[in-house]
Amino acid sequence: MLDFMMKKFVYIYTYGCQMNVHDSEKMLGTLENSGYAVTEHPEQADLIIFNTCAIREKAEQKFYSQLGRSKFLKNKRPGVKIAVAGCIAQDAQRRVFKRAPYVDFVIGPQNIHMLSDIVCGDTSLHTEENPDISYRQYEMRRESKTRAWVSIMYGCNNFCSYCIVPFTRGRELSRPSSSIISEIRQLRQKGYVEVTLLGQNVNSYNSDMDFVQLLREISRIGMDRVRFITSHPRDLSPALIDAIAELTGLCEHLHLPLQSGSDIILQKMNRRYSYSGYLEKVLMVREKVPGIAITTDLIIGFPGETQKDYDQTVNAVREIEFDGIFGFNYSRRNGTLAYDMDEQIPDSVKSERLNNVLKIQDDISLKKNRALEGTNQEILIEGPSASNKHLLMGRTRTNKIVTIEDSGETEGTLLSAYIEKARHHSLKGTKR
Ligand code: SAH
Ligand code: SF4
Ligand code: F3S
Repeated sequence: MLDFMMKKFVYIYTYGCQMNVHDSEKMLGTLENSGYAVTEHPEQADLIIFNTCAIREKAEQKFYSQLGRSKFLKNKRPGVKIAVAGCIAQDAQRRVFKRAPYVDFVIGPQNIHMLSDIVCGDTSLHTEENPDISYRQYEMRRESKTRAWVSIMYGCNNFCSYCIVPFTRGRELSRPSSSIISEIRQLRQKGYVEVTLLGQNVNSYNSDMDFVQLLREISRIGMDRVRFITSHPRDLSPALIDAIAELTGLCEHLHLPLQSGSDIILQKMNRRYSYSGYLEKVLMVREKVPGIAITTDLIIGFPGETQKDYDQTVNAVREIEFDGIFGFNYSRRNGTLAYDMDEQIPDSVKSERLNNVLKIQDDISLKKNRALEGTNQEILIEGPSASNKHLLMGRTRTNKIVTIEDSGETEGTLLSAYIEKARHHSLKGTKR
């Protein structure tokens, strides 16, 4: 009883990409291990963590406005501690304290292994580099009992000229294969059916083996589904394409960020591939892995993007016919090369161009989804559908969302669904 009364509660806000989602699992695992309990109610928390994202200005604004609201919680309960973690912590460092003096701890992504100790102490900043990051083992409080994130590498060396990540996540470091493999083995024993390997550029994984060798080793563990994000087009090798074709556990989905269809812009972005080089790889992938889904990221309105450059992006979208795209207005990030480039594009132009390309893609997505009508697809049930609680949602191996009637299947069930109807961003199926 006493133990329960002394228990402290932690609440975490998570913004940004899958690495952050997984870092939050690590932070909560570490804290649980040292006696914290996780709460779903920020008002109840003794410790509030913001795991932040700095990728675009919008993400930053979202965080700061939420942080502002947490000040009132602190006024109400003076014992509450506030920690700012993640990419904004690393990028802004002391400026977080300046902007929000009620923040107690600022902790960069490379320092979360010290979290339990940090939160016992006084106000402090922890943004030093951690060269041991890839050797650490973490306690984890995984959100799902059936699908797991697995870090295979940290950081990024690519320095795409628009991107803040190399500054917030530090240099690229790969985890030893033995520790990745034993983690996945344990997950399999616990009943997990899907793992997603995480890295900013998984194709450049390089420890005691390369990425393709790692995939071959992982595939022997016998997970039903293995995914990985993100691939850099320059490093996508024919050997990797062969592996996707051969290895049964590897899902038929490739997220391959193109960013722009213009070679001039790609060069200014420091992406180190041309559109034709990208296209060639896409064609090779489609030839060797029929039915594979390919999705991409696009940045619209990079400095100097002319109407002609933009048209080339639209042409690329039409020519390749992606299964889905994530499109973003270019956002100026302090400290990056592109920040100071001439010819920054007005927001109104960016938004118009973005909306236009997304509209074009909508028709393509629908067309792609329609091709699946009348087929049977293996789906992995994730839980209730977000749009209708009475339906279940699952994903195909190609990462498409399928909703089906709820007949009591639990999360993690693999079943065959007959695709009745295609929508723009999902499919409607029935159990077969
Ligand atoms: N490492 C991954 C992507 C990480 S960020 C990769 O290279 O693919 C995810 C996406 O955010 C990027 O693919 C890019 O499309 C977008 N992005 C990154 N920086 C951006 C910026 N400054 N403005 C707008 N979008 C950006
Ligand atoms: Fe950013 Fe480029 Fe690294 Fe991706 S590869 S994280 S876009 S610098
Ligand atoms: Fe991810 Fe955002 Fe950091 S996208 S790597 S959390 S800047």
